[in-house]
Amino acid sequence: MTTRTTRIFSGVKPTGHLTLGNYLGAIRQWVESDQHRAEALFCVVDLHALTVDHDPARVRRLSRQTATLFLAAGLDPELCTLFVQSHVDEHTRLSYLLECTATDGEMRRMIQYKEKSVRERSTGGSVRLSLLTYPALMAADILAYGADEVPVGDDQAQHVELTRDLAVRFNQRYGHTFTVPRAVLPEVASRVMDLQDPTSKMGKSHAETSGIVYLLDEPEVVRKKIMRAVTDSGSDVVYDREAHPGVANLLELLASCTGDKPAVLAEQYSSYGALKRDTAEAVVELLRPVQARHAELCADPGTVDAVLRTGAERARALARPTVDAAYRAIGLLPAA
Ligand code: TRP
Repeated sequence: MTTRTTRIFSGVKPTGHLTLGNYLGAIRQWVESDQHRAEALFCVVDLHALTVDHDPARVRRLSRQTATLFLAAGLDPELCTLFVQSHVDEHTRLSYLLECTATDGEMRRMIQYKEKSVRERSTGGSVRLSLLTYPALMAADILAYGADEVPVGDDQAQHVELTRDLAVRFNQRYGHTFTVPRAVLPEVASRVMDLQDPTSKMGKSHAETSGIVYLLDEPEVVRKKIMRAVTDSGSDVVYDREAHPGVANLLELLASCTGDKPAVLAEQYSSYGALKRDTAEAVVELLRPVQARHAELCADPGTVDAVLRTGAERARALARPTVDAAYRAIGLLPAA
């Protein structure tokens, strides 16, 4: 791998099947741009999947599937580093030091913690301590690699902001150790919204799935979901996110498949039916090669294993010096 100046880190939690939202909002950007222009690491962050009630077999299955889909989508292990978080001990080593840098109040202020802990308690569940400390582990993911840029959805911006605060504080207290990263948010048009609820993001962990297109959905299922997408009353095809979010979402979806502008596409349609049919076909065609490659890789699990093994070795070699430096800086006695 050649030395590139910008370093990028991003991660996906194996808590659900990857969606069209993950692909168009993140992974496609990694494939088409990030892995070429920067030294990029993409990680299946499996430890983060343990912060809420989980099924061990499902986490294991989704971790492999997520890694396989990264490859199927076009991430190239010759260009970037693909790995599974739990294969590299540096993440948890550093996480503890960052728990010793962050405050209890800071962690409790995280919006995601507040929302998820309220939800867990309201259904009679208990809240795992790791749900509270999770941002320290996420900060460790990023800081261990000296990442400059962190491509994330806007729901993660607060966690990256905290990561910056922790990096600055650690550097001030113990001497310069960490690069201070910044979040890179996707453009509005690459945010895919739920087909049944076009004002909320198409997320992989939602319980109601009829508005979510998964990367591995069969073509017939993709067509059905898109044909049933919620549109607005009226029948004029206009691009207006505020007044007509359902139609705007379809136009943006079609636009991100064809490379056209949503407003230009709007002028070409006079009915919702035709817009839905074309959007469905465009999405089916977009997913076809990814699904074909996924099937090939599933038939050849040794390839995925080898990629993840090499990825973990490379990640370890990158993270080790920074994490060791942090151990020394914070006052831990080096092993003789
Ligand atoms: N918290 C992120 C999410 O829920 C996943 C994540 C974990 C991550 N560690 C990260 C993203 C580091 C970017 C960088 O989506």
